[in-house]
Amino acid sequence: MSENNRIEELRRRRAEGLLGGGQARIDAQHERGRLTARERIDLLLDKGSFRELDAFVTHRTTDFGLDDKKFLGDSVVTGWGTIDGRLVYVYSQDFTVFGGSLGEVHAEKIVKIQDMALKNGAPIIGLNDSGGARIQEGVISLGGYADIFLRNTLASGVIPQISAIMGPCAGGAVYSPALTDFILMVKNSSYMFVTGPEVVKAVTHEDVSFEELGGASVHAEVSGVCHLTAENEADALYMIRKLLGFLPQNNMEDPPFKPTRDDPLRREAALDAIIPDDPSKPYDVKEIISLIVDDREFFEIQEAYAANIVVGFARLGGHAIGIIANQPAVLAGVLDINASEKAARFIRFCDSFNLPILTLEDVPGFMPGTVQEHAGIIRSGAKLLYAYCEATVPKLTVITRKAYGGAYDVMSSKHIRGDVNLAWPSAEIAVMGPDGAVNIIFRKEIAEAKDPVKKKAELVAEYRAKFANPYVAASRGFIDDIIEPNDTRPRLINSLEMMGNKRDQNPAKKHGNVPL
Ligand code: HXC
Repeated sequence: MSENNRIEELRRRRAEGLLGGGQARIDAQHERGRLTARERIDLLLDKGSFRELDAFVTHRTTDFGLDDKKFLGDSVVTGWGTIDGRLVYVYSQDFTVFGGSLGEVHAEKIVKIQDMALKNGAPIIGLNDSGGARIQEGVISLGGYADIFLRNTLASGVIPQISAIMGPCAGGAVYSPALTDFILMVKNSSYMFVTGPEVVKAVTHEDVSFEELGGASVHAEVSGVCHLTAENEADALYMIRKLLGFLPQNNMEDPPFKPTRDDPLRREAALDAIIPDDPSKPYDVKEIISLIVDDREFFEIQEAYAANIVVGFARLGGHAIGIIANQPAVLAGVLDINASEKAARFIRFCDSFNLPILTLEDVPGFMPGTVQEHAGIIRSGAKLLYAYCEATVPKLTVITRKAYGGAYDVMSSKHIRGDVNLAWPSAEIAVMGPDGAVNIIFRKEIAEAKDPVKKKAELVAEYRAKFANPYVAASRGFIDDIIEPNDTRPRLINSLEMMGNKRDQNPAKKHGNVPL
């Protein structure tokens, strides 16, 4: 064969591989309203940056007539490229080949880039669209999944791992995304479940659709499995690019600095009027966030889940940070099981990847009641406490209003290594709210008073004047300073820069025993 012919042969094979399962199946994928594996990669990565690996790999199965059904590259496209010029590894399951199902070589391809990503310290992104374990390959495909799960776990806390669900993701296949840091789902075209509607019907006699069982909105609002919900596939891929903009390449690097034109000394008079005079009135903590951060940009995570706590990424003076904020506008910002777990996981992510943590605190306490107690709020609250205690990244806290009871301790207090703890003059830092406190310590006096209502009101006023303020805590040094709300952004940026070289560490151990 002449050299020209050899090159022709290479080109012919490469072109064949680009068609995956063939034009008819590509058309079917488009008719489902979905992009192909390669179209997704093209939208995700910087133009022309994708370098494919293993494009000529084929499966080795001979059972069930598979020996004459081979597709170059099999059912996943893998390789590396860049996002905003930064290296990432990517795998994209190809539904046009055996429904994107995972067999031996599919798993080997993913494992290869997982190993490369870990070794070279760059994020890995999985675009999932698969019918699950390749049925014809039996236990071999189960082994392949386990090989991937192991690497997901070993890479956890070393490189960011992001999963986008762009189609089906069923059975044990859900556990690879579940082991990664963030899961994105596409509305109305992706679903995740451990057992599908048919098995559910057989076992529990429930009639449930794919969407109701494991669609994007269920996982975004009810289970909390999904961190980001996209309107469509292009939106999901854009969100991944945006998310990565806040993250370092690996745990040894700092998050990328992004210079801003937003003045670090910008004062916001609007903050002075944001806390209502009546302490039982709500306000939206997201307004505070947007007034403080660079360019009002807040990238919220798990927006629709446990909305009584708000978590997400933003920048202060160009530095990427993670924000955890009690949300007085939802359930008065109370800490319940879901809110505790949502925040704990986010804090642990930030701590793994060197993102300073800003806590905005206005919390009446933990949610009372049998429902929460029986479901284990003790364990869940402990997760949040553990996450804050363990974190060694710079920790900034601003108490805007209520900091009552155990929740005061938990929410990044000075005692658990809060670095800079500030309070607004509206802060109320005490063992419990005035009403509850007075009911307990003056029960007798109130009952015996001529006018119990008046007596109670007097005692509440007295308690409020004594304790529902930041000065008692500040007199102890539990609060480093009381600041004017308008000065919050300059003070936070200044504190963050003061801690640019912060060093802190935990005792050497194999790993801690976080209360799971
Ligand atoms: C082999 C598969 C496959 C699979 C789909 N295909 N799933 N091939 N193994 N698991 C093939 C189909 O035969 C078909 O091939 C093509 O992919 C497209 O599938 P369709 O059924 O035509 O597509 P659609 O109607 O959109 O339905 C998609 C689907 C359905 C809902 C995913 O295919 C399905 O239910 N598949 C089986 C899902 C499943 O039970 N998987 C095992 C889960 S258990 P042709 O040649 O016709 O195009 C599991 C355990 C993992 O994954 C454990 C890890 C620890």
